Amino acid sequence: MTETLVKATFDVYRYDPARDPAPRYDRYELELPRHTPLLSALLKIRAEVDPSLTLRYSCRSAICGSCAMQVNSKSRLACETQIGPELDRDGRIVVEPMRNQKVLRDLVVEQEPFWRNYDRIRPHLILDPTKPMPEGKETPMTPAQVDRFMETPRCIACAACYSACPAVEADPAFPGPMALAKLYRFVVDPRDQAHQDRLVRIQTDGLWLCMRCHLCTEACPKDVRPSERIRDLKEMAIAVQGATETGSRHAVGFKENIRERGLLSEMKLVRQTSGLTGLLAQAPQGLRMVRKKPEILKRPHPIEGLDEVEKIYDALDHPEAPP
Ligand code: FES
Repeated sequence: MTETLVKATFDVYRYDPARDPAPRYDRYELELPRHTPLLSALLKIRAEVDPSLTLRYSCRSAICGSCAMQVNSKSRLACETQIGPELDRDGRIVVEPMRNQKVLRDLVVEQEPFWRNYDRIRPHLILDPTKPMPEGKETPMTPAQVDRFMETPRCIACAACYSACPAVEADPAFPGPMALAKLYRFVVDPRDQAHQDRLVRIQTDGLWLCMRCHLCTEACPKDVRPSERIRDLKEMAIAVQGATETGSRHAVGFKENIRERGLLSEMKLVRQTSGLTGLLAQAPQGLRMVRKKPEILKRPHPIEGLDEVEKIYDALDHPEAPP
């Protein structure tokens, strides 16, 4: 049986910083079976139309992570993205390099900062030097212990999360979702002896720069759900060290504010987050806000149905308790 072919239009980002004054998009039109992986289409373009097209790939099986790119504005693995559904949805396929990484040429980006952030979290077990592992013996874990990090080993380090992350874009000091998800994996490993130290260090090493937008979780092709692991790290960091950083104080203050009245008291939250010194430092900006919105100085009245809010907090604080 012969396969039905579809007419596919590819608009591919092209840029060679050594030669081109600016990036451009080159259009290629091919007839291909609907189920063709985008990577195969790009390799066909390179083999038959334009040998200068530059891209990175290796396994062609969604394992190595090297073919990650922006496909119709979403971070995808080119080797597992079939062209048919993309054409049905968008009418054409726009292919661009990953975001938040410098373009080296066409679809190939500089990965050094991504891997540097990974190294920063010390991605290996740290054992107690006074208790070396018994030679030739395994260190078994219970199924419940393994369950705590079942998702993170699925990560293939494709950087889809890093590319989608606005915190990386805003501040290069942010380690990125992949590095933090991997950090979580070691923090909950019962064999690791540095979990407390890891949690204390990360509090001042970018953990609280996460904006909780969850775009990393949406982008991840392996369902690692990095934003949930970052949330877990934040909870564990507060449990170990208390709310000692601006970010953790903000989170705790926010929670207390809503629990108390069901609404934010913005002045109180600034004081809880930054202290009196921080409040004074922000005085000029605060005065401008008060002029525009004088009601922020008033303490909000508790909302109606505050007892329902309390019930939500109770359910979250004690998930095992009967309703
Ligand atoms: S080529 Fe390895 S994940 Fe696509």
